[in-house]
Amino acid sequence: MRFKDHHIISMTSFSRDMIDHILETSEKMEPIALGKQKSDLLTGKILGVLFFEPSTRTRMSFETAMYRLGGNVLNLGSIDASSIAKGETLADTIRVVGSYADAIVLRHPKEGAACLASEFSTIPILNAGDGAGHHPTQTLLDLYTIKRESHLEGLKIALVGDLKYGRTVHSLCYALSLYGAQITMISPEELRMPEEIINDLESRGSTVTEVDSIEEAINDVDVLYMTRIQKERFPDPAEYQKVANRLKITTETLKEARSELRIMHPLPRVNEIHPDVDETVHACYFKQAFYGVPVRMALMALVLGAME
Ligand code: NCD
Repeated sequence: MRFKDHHIISMTSFSRDMIDHILETSEKMEPIALGKQKSDLLTGKILGVLFFEPSTRTRMSFETAMYRLGGNVLNLGSIDASSIAKGETLADTIRVVGSYADAIVLRHPKEGAACLASEFSTIPILNAGDGAGHHPTQTLLDLYTIKRESHLEGLKIALVGDLKYGRTVHSLCYALSLYGAQITMISPEELRMPEEIINDLESRGSTVTEVDSIEEAINDVDVLYMTRIQKERFPDPAEYQKVANRLKITTETLKEARSELRIMHPLPRVNEIHPDVDETVHACYFKQAFYGVPVRMALMALVLGAME
C-alpha cells in the first residue's frame, strides 16, 4: 500500500484497508515508541510543525515520533514571533516551509485550512485539526486505542459531549462507519452532531442512536468517548455557560458498569471526567495519549516513503 507523498486531510478519504495498514504499522512501532528499540528510519527527514492553535499532545507526540525515528522537527513557534504577525498568508507560509521540510503538520482555527494548504504545498500536509472540521491523526490513534484496549469488530460506542464543534468526534465517526460500529450520540440539544454528518453515516450503513444521558447508554456500550465542550468555538460566551458541566462521569456513574467498559477522551479534559475515575479499570485516556506516538510514527514513516 502506498501512502508516500499523500496529504492526510480527512477521514472521509480513507478505506478500511488503508486504516488497517496504518494500525498494523503502528503496532510494529510500539517498542521504538517506548524507547526499547532504536531506529534511524527517518534520519535526515524534517517535519515542519505549524500550530496556529494551542496543543500539547498532538504537537509533542508528532515531535516525539520524528525524534524516535531519527528525524528532526522545525517548529514555527509562536505566531507572534513569525511573519504571520506581519500579515503573511497561509499559502505563502506553506510554500516557504515546503522548501525547508519534507512534510508539514498543520493545526489551524479555520475549517478547511489543511485542505487549502494542500493546494499550495509541494510536500505532504498532515491535518492536526482545522477548526471544528476534522482531526484525522487523532482518529487513527483513537482506533488504535480501541483495537488495543477493546475491540473494533462489532464495536458499540457512545460519543459524549460537544458533538457540534468537536472535530475529534467528526473524524472518528466517519472511520467507525467503515467498521460497522453501532454509534450512540449523547450531547446537550444545542451541541448535537451536525445533521449532514449523521446523514453521511447512515448512507454509509451505520446505525446512529441519540440518547439524553450517559446513564441510558452505559450498560450497552463497549466504549464511552468523552469530549470537552469546545469553549473557543462558541460565538457567544453566555451560550457556553448554559451547556458547560452538563455531561460528566464520576465513580458514582460507573458503579454498575461492566469491567470491560473503556473510557476514552482525546484530552484535555476540563471536568467531564472526575480525577477519581483515573484509578478505575475503565480509564484509558492516558494510554490513548501515549498511543499517539506509535501511530504518528507509522504515519510519518508511510507518508515519507520510509515504509510501504
Ligand atoms: C483535541 C483537539 O484539539 O481537537 N485535542 C487533541 O488533539 N488531543 C480535543 C480538544 O481540544 O478538546
